[in-house]
Amino acid sequence: MLSPDAVGEVCIVVIGIGVIGCGYWGPNLLRNFYELESCRLTWCCDARPERLRWVQGRYPTVRTTTSWEELLRAPDVQAVAIATPVSTHARLAREALRRGKDVLVEKPLTASVREAEALVALAEQERRILMVDHVFVYSGAVRAVKEVIRRGELGDLYYFDSVRVNLGLFQHDVNVLWDLAPHDLAIMDYLLELEPEAVMAVGACNVGTGIENLAYVTIRFAGHLLAHIHVNWLAPVKARRTLLCGSRKMIIYDDTEPSEKVKVYDRGITFNGDQSLIHQALIEYRTGDMYAPRIEPTEALRRVCGHFLECVEARKAPLTDGEAGLRVVRLLERAEASMRAGGVEQRLVA
Ligand SMILES: NC(=O)c1ccc[n+]([C@@H]2O[C@H](COP(=O)([O-])OP(=O)(O)OC[C@H]3O[C@@H](n4cnc5c(N)ncnc54)[C@H](O)[C@@H]3O)[C@@H](O)[C@H]2O)c1
Repeated sequence: MLSPDAVGEVCIVVIGIGVIGCGYWGPNLLRNFYELESCRLTWCCDARPERLRWVQGRYPTVRTTTSWEELLRAPDVQAVAIATPVSTHARLAREALRRGKDVLVEKPLTASVREAEALVALAEQERRILMVDHVFVYSGAVRAVKEVIRRGELGDLYYFDSVRVNLGLFQHDVNVLWDLAPHDLAIMDYLLELEPEAVMAVGACNVGTGIENLAYVTIRFAGHLLAHIHVNWLAPVKARRTLLCGSRKMIIYDDTEPSEKVKVYDRGITFNGDQSLIHQALIEYRTGDMYAPRIEPTEALRRVCGHFLECVEARKAPLTDGEAGLRVVRLLERAEASMRAGGVEQRLVA
């Protein structure tokens, strides 16, 4: 039940939020929920007491515990955000949903399709909100790309090509595929809104940890549309670049650019001629103008937290709901199966 805060005649509903996991990413959730007016950050849980001391120093009004059970029992926690390692997501989210909490889970939703399907079913059964933090879907840049696609400017889409590489952070519980590719897969899922037909992937472990630090993933859609994703923890510089090519225009989205992250190019080729007489064929190159759409500067995670609260209040399905989380986990699981089989294509549709 939501706790109402009476302000004069007006009754404002304030949602009590508990955050589980305060390592590298959790503090970003704490900061955003703390600053948003439609909720009150009431609890934070982490298994490590030193992290809780950090929370107490920064947010003295927030109660802390090393026990997630204690947090889930607290009457002033209506909704929970989970930022613990991927292997713990399913259990913590399940326990929260069973106790009637609405749940925001960090990406990827779970470590397996089986777990993600069970969570989606449980959230529906309990009539709870289940949302996954596919943070880039809420970024101004990706939303600007979506607008260009929605207006039909690209024409027929030919390919989606994404590079997400940097030096580290090496994870010990997941490989680079499960760590970085959820971002590209979530962006692709949001932009394309298409069901992939098959996936193939290869990967390598270059540093003796037994965990792949490099992966190349190729996804096939109906027709000739292809997506390719390159994720890597062993690169000298950080690159975050997505290329979308259509029959009419092309887009480069470079998230490392301080401004003008999205550029739309009126470039392409036109093939004039008879394919059977290839030596007579004429290829015309079109090099028209480029423009950079205006990008809304709000922090993407602020939007994630705000959207979650809106959905909790209005009891509406989030943009990145459990199903969206499941679609990304399905691709990750099949890509990993392909990687284990030396790159053999894994079909996603019958
Ligand atoms: N959206 C993004 O851009 C983004 C970026 C980084 C990480 N993440 C996601 O956030 C999650 C956490 O990643 P991280 O890099 O912060 O990891 P981390 O290891 O730095 O932090 C995880 C924290 O969870 C705590 N924890 C583990 N099990 C717990 C339990 N059972 N109860 C309470 N606390 C527990 C650990 O003590 C640790 O402090 C992962 O799912 C990761 O994929 C998302």
